[in-house]
Amino acid sequence: MNISIIGAGAIGAAIARLVVDAGLNVSLANSRGPESLATLVAELGPLAQAVTARQASQADIVFLAVNWSKIPKAVEGLGPWEGRIVVDTNNPIEAPLFKPLDLNGKTSSHVVAELLPGARLVKGFNHLAPRLLTNPNAEGGRRVLFYAGDHVEAKQKVAELITRLGFFGIDLGSLQQGLLAQFPDGPIPGLNLVKHD
Ligand SMILES: NC(=O)c1ccc[n+]([C@@H]2O[C@H](COP(=O)([O-])OP(=O)(O)OC[C@H]3O[C@@H](n4cnc5c(N)ncnc54)[C@H](OP(=O)(O)O)[C@@H]3O)[C@@H](O)[C@H]2O)c1
Repeated sequence: MNISIIGAGAIGAAIARLVVDAGLNVSLANSRGPESLATLVAELGPLAQAVTARQASQADIVFLAVNWSKIPKAVEGLGPWEGRIVVDTNNPIEAPLFKPLDLNGKTSSHVVAELLPGARLVKGFNHLAPRLLTNPNAEGGRRVLFYAGDHVEAKQKVAELITRLGFFGIDLGSLQQGLLAQFPDGPIPGLNLVKHD
């Protein structure tokens, strides 16, 4: 299973750190090209490499971690997705104004899914601040990550990855139910929950 991340900012870099810490390879892409990622990739170590967004889009599991308004441009021309899994880490809001957007009753994941025809979208990694996301072990337990999606097998694969990265995953249900963890709409964002075994 190969893993990539389109978007190498606060969330993308945090996920990349988790992936290499778990001993897995990760490919990273941004808007400025692989050369601009040299410092980050060097910090992450030999399991990380910088690629183009097109190359990143070919991975088995593609994390999308791009500012909301820039997502259409970031995924433009990528694909065909042919059933590959895309983890939608995004929320429909942006710094510095953090003004909620009207998505005509759709969840942000449904909006993203429409941009990625043929991809199997799983919502996740979107309800915690990056500083919490980089640390799955907390207070003697495992930090909780929520995920949601309409494709059972894709969700299962993401659930296995969540466990491999050291978190405790909780399935919220369908993509529609992923709204519970969507910021600023749902009640879950910002909740820093820890599962004690
Ligand atoms: N930060 C949080 O607390 C937080 C928490 C949960 C979820 N999220 C969500 O995670 C997503 C990313 O947030 P962030 O805080 O990581 O943002 P960020 O630090 O600003 O990073 C955004 C990344 O997206 C890349 N990007 C922008 N346009 C692109 C394009 N056309 N093609 C490829 N890559 C492109 C940027 O690359 P360049 O720099 O090269 O343009 C940058 O690496 C957002 O949707 C946000 O809602 C954020």
